[in-house]
Amino acid sequence: MVPNDRGSQAGYTLLSDHPIIVDDLSAETRFQGPDLLIEHQVRSGMSVIIGNKNEPFGILGAHTKKHRTFTDDDVNFLQAMANMLAGAIDRSQTEETLVTKDREIRQTYIDVFAAVTGGKLVVLSKEELLENIGRPLGKAFALAFYEDLASARAQLRKEMDESFSRDVDKQEMTTAAGEAMANAIKHSGSGQVRAFKSNGSVQVMIEDAGPGIDFSLLPKATLMAGFSTKQTLGIGFTIMLELCDRLMLSTQPGDTTVVLEMSAGHP
Ligand SMILES: Nc1ncnc2c1ncn2[C@@H]1O[C@H](COP(=O)(O)OP(=O)(O)O)[C@@H](O)[C@H]1O
Ligand SMILES: [Mg+2]
Repeated sequence: MVPNDRGSQAGYTLLSDHPIIVDDLSAETRFQGPDLLIEHQVRSGMSVIIGNKNEPFGILGAHTKKHRTFTDDDVNFLQAMANMLAGAIDRSQTEETLVTKDREIRQTYIDVFAAVTGGKLVVLSKEELLENIGRPLGKAFALAFYEDLASARAQLRKEMDESFSRDVDKQEMTTAAGEAMANAIKHSGSGQVRAFKSNGSVQVMIEDAGPGIDFSLLPKATLMAGFSTKQTLGIGFTIMLELCDRLMLSTQPGDTTVVLEMSAGHP
Protein backbone atom coordinates (compact mmCIF):
# COMPACT_ATOMS: atom_id res chain seq x y z
CA MET A 1 0.00 0.00 0.00
CA VAL A 2 1.19 3.47 -0.90
CA PRO A 3 -0.22 6.34 1.17
CA ASN A 4 -1.26 9.08 -1.25
CA ASP A 5 0.51 11.91 0.46
CA ARG A 6 3.64 13.96 0.12
CA GLY A 7 5.65 11.57 2.25
CA SER A 8 7.14 9.75 -0.75
CA GLN A 9 7.60 9.95 -4.50
CA ALA A 10 5.01 7.19 -4.99
CA GLY A 11 2.47 8.98 -2.78
CA TYR A 12 3.11 12.26 -4.52
CA THR A 13 2.62 10.57 -7.93
CA LEU A 14 -0.79 9.34 -6.80
CA LEU A 15 -1.74 12.95 -5.96
CA SER A 16 -0.66 14.26 -9.37
CA ASP A 17 -2.31 13.65 -12.70
CA HIS A 18 0.93 13.51 -14.64
CA PRO A 19 4.16 11.52 -14.42
CA ILE A 20 6.67 12.67 -11.83
CA ILE A 21 10.30 13.08 -12.78
CA VAL A 22 12.94 13.53 -10.11
CA ASP A 23 16.27 14.90 -11.19
CA ASP A 24 18.00 14.80 -7.83
CA LEU A 25 16.19 13.26 -4.90
CA SER A 26 18.38 14.97 -2.31
CA ALA A 27 17.31 18.38 -3.68
CA GLU A 28 13.63 17.41 -3.93
CA THR A 29 11.11 19.86 -2.43
CA ARG A 30 7.73 18.62 -3.72
CA PHE A 31 7.64 15.67 -1.31
CA GLN A 32 9.73 14.52 1.63
CA GLY A 33 11.51 11.42 2.62
CA PRO A 34 12.54 9.38 4.39
CA ASP A 35 11.39 6.73 2.08
CA LEU A 36 12.42 3.54 0.38
CA LEU A 37 14.25 5.43 -2.36
CA ILE A 38 16.45 7.42 -0.01
CA GLU A 39 17.31 4.25 1.88
CA HIS A 40 18.49 2.80 -1.43
CA GLN A 41 20.56 5.90 -2.26
CA VAL A 42 18.45 6.70 -5.27
CA ARG A 43 19.35 9.91 -7.06
CA SER A 44 17.11 10.22 -10.12
CA GLY A 45 13.87 8.62 -11.15
CA MET A 46 10.44 8.79 -12.72
CA SER A 47 7.09 7.39 -11.69
CA VAL A 48 3.65 7.03 -13.23
CA ILE A 49 0.22 5.85 -12.14
CA ILE A 50 -0.96 2.36 -13.14
CA GLY A 51 -4.62 2.69 -14.10
CA ASN A 52 -6.70 5.84 -13.87
CA LYS A 53 -6.10 8.49 -11.27
CA ASN A 54 -9.43 8.00 -9.49
CA GLU A 55 -8.99 4.27 -9.02
CA PRO A 56 -5.29 3.59 -9.43
CA PHE A 57 -3.93 0.04 -9.21
CA GLY A 58 -0.56 1.35 -8.11
CA ILE A 59 2.60 3.12 -9.18
CA LEU A 60 5.26 2.11 -11.66
CA GLY A 61 8.65 3.72 -11.18
CA ALA A 62 12.18 3.55 -12.57
CA HIS A 63 15.08 4.83 -10.49
CA THR A 64 18.85 5.12 -10.68
CA LYS A 65 21.59 5.66 -8.14
CA LYS A 66 23.58 7.75 -10.60
CA HIS A 67 22.29 11.07 -11.79
CA ARG A 68 20.24 10.79 -14.94
CA THR A 69 17.93 13.16 -16.76
CA PHE A 70 14.82 11.29 -17.85
CA THR A 71 13.38 12.49 -21.14
CA ASP A 72 9.80 12.67 -22.41
CA ASP A 73 10.48 9.48 -24.37
CA ASP A 74 11.53 7.69 -21.18
CA VAL A 75 8.40 8.83 -19.39
CA ASN A 76 6.17 7.89 -22.31
CA PHE A 77 7.73 4.44 -22.40
CA LEU A 78 7.13 3.97 -18.67
CA GLN A 79 3.53 5.20 -19.00
CA ALA A 80 2.93 2.81 -21.91
CA MET A 81 4.15 -0.07 -19.76
CA ALA A 82 1.92 1.05 -16.89
CA ASN A 83 -1.06 1.24 -19.26
CA MET A 84 -0.39 -2.28 -20.49
CA LEU A 85 -0.21 -3.47 -16.91
CA ALA A 86 -3.45 -1.67 -16.08
CA GLY A 87 -5.15 -3.32 -19.06
CA ALA A 88 -3.98 -6.75 -17.96
CA ILE A 89 -5.07 -6.20 -14.35
CA ASP A 90 -8.43 -4.89 -15.54
CA ARG A 91 -9.00 -7.90 -17.80
CA SER A 92 -8.09 -10.39 -15.10
CA GLN A 93 -10.39 -8.62 -12.62
CA THR A 94 -13.28 -8.72 -15.12
CA GLU A 95 -12.61 -12.39 -15.76
CA GLU A 96 -12.55 -13.09 -12.04
CA THR A 97 -15.91 -11.35 -11.62
CA LEU A 98 -17.39 -13.45 -14.44
CA VAL A 99 -16.03 -16.68 -12.99
CA THR A 100 -17.43 -15.78 -9.57
CA LYS A 101 -20.83 -14.91 -11.09
CA ASP A 102 -20.88 -18.16 -13.06
CA ARG A 103 -20.03 -20.15 -9.94
CA GLU A 104 -22.80 -18.41 -7.99
CA ILE A 105 -25.37 -19.16 -10.71
CA ARG A 106 -24.32 -22.82 -10.85
CA GLN A 107 -24.55 -23.15 -7.09
CA THR A 108 -28.04 -21.63 -7.13
CA TYR A 109 -29.14 -24.15 -9.79
CA ILE A 110 -27.65 -26.99 -7.78
CA ASP A 111 -29.48 -25.87 -4.63
CA VAL A 112 -32.75 -25.57 -6.54
CA PHE A 113 -32.35 -29.07 -8.05
CA ALA A 114 -31.89 -30.50 -4.59
CA ALA A 115 -34.78 -28.48 -3.15
CA VAL A 116 -37.41 -29.32 -5.76
CA THR A 117 -36.50 -33.02 -5.85
CA GLY A 118 -36.29 -33.42 -2.07
CA GLY A 119 -32.56 -33.99 -2.32
CA LYS A 120 -32.87 -36.70 -4.98
CA LEU A 121 -31.17 -34.91 -7.81
CA VAL A 122 -27.61 -34.10 -6.86
CA VAL A 123 -25.63 -32.15 -9.43
CA LEU A 124 -21.92 -32.08 -8.70
CA SER A 125 -18.48 -32.15 -10.20
CA LYS A 126 -17.02 -35.44 -11.41
CA GLU A 127 -14.51 -35.34 -8.57
CA GLU A 128 -17.21 -34.95 -5.94
CA LEU A 129 -19.27 -37.64 -7.63
CA LEU A 130 -16.41 -40.14 -7.50
CA GLU A 131 -16.02 -39.54 -3.77
CA ASN A 132 -19.51 -40.96 -3.35
CA ILE A 133 -18.92 -44.21 -5.20
CA GLY A 134 -18.61 -47.57 -3.45
CA ARG A 135 -16.78 -50.72 -4.51
CA PRO A 136 -17.29 -52.13 -8.00
CA LEU A 137 -19.43 -55.24 -8.40
CA GLY A 138 -18.06 -56.23 -11.77
CA LYS A 139 -16.24 -54.85 -14.77
CA ALA A 140 -17.36 -51.83 -16.73
CA PHE A 141 -19.16 -52.69 -19.94
CA ALA A 142 -19.44 -50.66 -23.09
CA LEU A 143 -22.51 -49.35 -24.87
CA ALA A 144 -22.39 -48.45 -28.53
CA PHE A 145 -25.69 -49.52 -30.07
CA TYR A 146 -29.28 -49.73 -28.91
CA GLU A 147 -28.91 -53.47 -29.43
CA ASP A 148 -26.40 -53.48 -26.55
CA LEU A 149 -29.08 -52.35 -24.11
CA ALA A 150 -30.67 -55.77 -23.56
CA SER A 151 -27.39 -57.47 -22.70
CA ALA A 152 -26.31 -54.51 -20.56
CA ARG A 153 -29.54 -54.78 -18.58
CA ALA A 154 -29.05 -58.54 -18.20
CA GLN A 155 -25.45 -58.03 -17.05
CA LEU A 156 -26.55 -55.47 -14.46
CA ARG A 157 -29.30 -57.76 -13.28
CA LYS A 158 -26.83 -60.61 -12.83
CA GLU A 159 -24.37 -58.49 -10.84
CA MET A 160 -27.12 -57.21 -8.57
CA ASP A 161 -28.40 -60.77 -8.05
CA GLU A 162 -24.93 -61.85 -6.91
CA SER A 163 -24.54 -59.03 -4.38
CA PHE A 164 -28.00 -58.03 -3.22
CA SER A 165 -30.94 -59.86 -1.77
CA ARG A 166 -34.45 -59.03 -2.87
CA ASP A 167 -34.25 -55.93 -0.64
CA VAL A 168 -33.19 -53.97 -3.67
CA ASP A 169 -35.77 -53.53 -6.38
CA LYS A 170 -33.60 -54.75 -9.22
CA GLN A 171 -36.36 -54.43 -11.77
CA GLU A 172 -36.77 -50.74 -11.05
CA MET A 173 -33.02 -50.16 -11.01
CA THR A 174 -32.65 -51.96 -14.34
CA THR A 175 -35.43 -49.83 -15.85
CA ALA A 176 -33.90 -46.60 -14.54
CA ALA A 177 -30.43 -47.60 -15.70
CA GLY A 178 -31.92 -48.45 -19.11
CA GLU A 179 -32.97 -44.78 -19.47
CA ALA A 180 -29.49 -43.48 -18.64
CA MET A 181 -27.88 -46.05 -20.95
CA ALA A 182 -30.24 -45.08 -23.78
CA ASN A 183 -29.31 -41.42 -23.17
CA ALA A 184 -25.60 -42.20 -23.44
CA ILE A 185 -26.20 -43.89 -26.80
CA LYS A 186 -28.76 -41.38 -28.08
CA HIS A 187 -27.11 -38.15 -27.00
CA SER A 188 -23.46 -39.11 -27.14
CA GLY A 189 -23.15 -42.13 -29.44
CA SER A 190 -21.63 -44.45 -26.85
CA GLY A 191 -20.95 -44.92 -23.18
CA GLN A 192 -20.07 -47.35 -20.45
CA VAL A 193 -21.81 -48.82 -17.44
CA ARG A 194 -20.58 -50.15 -14.14
CA ALA A 195 -22.33 -51.24 -10.95
CA PHE A 196 -21.12 -50.54 -7.40
CA LYS A 197 -22.12 -51.31 -3.86
CA SER A 198 -21.99 -48.50 -1.32
CA ASN A 199 -23.22 -48.89 2.28
CA GLY A 200 -25.79 -51.46 1.26
CA SER A 201 -26.99 -49.37 -1.68
CA VAL A 202 -26.61 -50.36 -5.28
CA GLN A 203 -25.15 -47.72 -7.57
CA VAL A 204 -25.13 -47.86 -11.33
CA MET A 205 -22.81 -45.44 -13.05
CA ILE A 206 -23.35 -44.55 -16.71
CA GLU A 207 -20.62 -42.47 -18.31
CA ASP A 208 -20.27 -41.00 -21.76
CA ALA A 209 -17.81 -38.75 -23.54
CA GLY A 210 -20.42 -36.79 -25.48
CA PRO A 211 -21.29 -33.09 -25.58
CA GLY A 212 -22.79 -32.98 -22.09
CA ILE A 213 -25.90 -31.13 -21.03
CA ASP A 214 -25.64 -27.38 -21.26
CA PHE A 215 -26.01 -25.89 -17.80
CA SER A 216 -28.73 -23.51 -18.94
CA LEU A 217 -30.77 -26.49 -20.24
CA LEU A 218 -30.21 -28.62 -17.17
CA PRO A 219 -33.40 -27.61 -15.29
CA LYS A 220 -35.60 -28.44 -18.27
CA ALA A 221 -33.63 -31.55 -19.22
CA THR A 222 -33.87 -33.04 -15.76
CA LEU A 223 -37.07 -31.66 -14.27
CA MET A 224 -39.48 -31.04 -17.12
CA ALA A 225 -41.27 -34.13 -18.35
CA GLY A 226 -41.55 -33.99 -22.12
CA PHE A 227 -38.45 -31.85 -22.67
CA SER A 228 -36.12 -33.33 -25.24
CA THR A 229 -33.50 -31.90 -27.56
CA LYS A 230 -33.96 -34.93 -29.81
CA GLN A 231 -37.69 -34.93 -30.44
CA THR A 232 -38.11 -38.01 -28.32
CA LEU A 233 -40.29 -38.52 -25.27
CA GLY A 234 -38.16 -36.50 -22.89
CA ILE A 235 -39.17 -38.52 -19.84
CA GLY A 236 -35.91 -40.36 -19.17
CA PHE A 237 -34.93 -38.19 -16.21
CA THR A 238 -38.50 -38.19 -14.90
CA ILE A 239 -38.45 -41.99 -14.84
CA MET A 240 -34.98 -42.17 -13.28
CA LEU A 241 -35.90 -39.68 -10.55
CA GLU A 242 -39.14 -41.52 -9.89
CA LEU A 243 -37.51 -44.93 -9.50
CA CYS A 244 -34.26 -44.12 -7.68
CA ASP A 245 -33.46 -42.84 -4.22
CA ARG A 246 -30.75 -40.57 -5.54
CA LEU A 247 -29.47 -39.47 -8.92
CA MET A 248 -26.02 -37.95 -9.03
CA LEU A 249 -25.18 -36.08 -12.20
CA SER A 250 -21.99 -34.48 -13.35
CA THR A 251 -21.92 -33.09 -16.85
CA GLN A 252 -19.50 -31.13 -18.96
CA PRO A 253 -18.40 -31.36 -22.57
CA GLY A 254 -16.60 -34.69 -22.94
CA ASP A 255 -17.88 -36.27 -19.72
CA THR A 256 -21.40 -36.85 -18.56
CA THR A 257 -21.82 -39.19 -15.64
CA VAL A 258 -25.08 -40.35 -14.14
CA VAL A 259 -25.10 -42.42 -10.97
CA LEU A 260 -28.37 -44.02 -9.99
CA GLU A 261 -28.60 -45.13 -6.42
CA MET A 262 -31.12 -47.32 -4.67
CA SER A 263 -30.85 -48.41 -1.09
CA ALA A 264 -31.52 -51.89 0.15
CA GLY A 265 -34.82 -52.01 1.95
CA HIS A 266 -36.33 -49.83 -0.70
CA PRO A 267 -40.14 -49.98 -0.31
N1 LIG B 1 -25.90 -38.33 -21.68
C1 LIG B 1 -26.38 -37.19 -22.15
N2 LIG B 1 -25.60 -36.37 -22.88
C2 LIG B 1 -26.07 -35.18 -23.35
N3 LIG B 1 -27.33 -34.76 -23.15
C3 LIG B 1 -28.17 -35.54 -22.45
C4 LIG B 1 -27.75 -36.78 -21.91
N4 LIG B 1 -28.79 -37.31 -21.24
C5 LIG B 1 -29.80 -36.43 -21.37
N5 LIG B 1 -29.45 -35.37 -22.10
C6 LIG B 1 -30.27 -34.19 -22.41
O1 LIG B 1 -31.39 -34.18 -21.53
C7 LIG B 1 -32.60 -34.20 -22.28
C8 LIG B 1 -33.64 -34.96 -21.50
O2 LIG B 1 -33.29 -36.33 -21.39
P1 LIG B 1 -34.43 -37.42 -21.24
O3 LIG B 1 -35.34 -36.99 -20.12
O4 LIG B 1 -33.83 -38.75 -21.14
O5 LIG B 1 -35.23 -37.26 -22.62
P2 LIG B 1 -34.86 -37.78 -24.09
O6 LIG B 1 -33.72 -38.74 -23.98
O7 LIG B 1 -36.10 -38.45 -24.60
O8 LIG B 1 -34.52 -36.57 -24.89
C9 LIG B 1 -32.21 -34.80 -23.61
O9 LIG B 1 -33.08 -34.41 -24.65
C10 LIG B 1 -30.81 -34.24 -23.81
O10 LIG B 1 -30.87 -32.92 -24.30
MG1 LIG C 1 -33.74 -40.25 -22.65
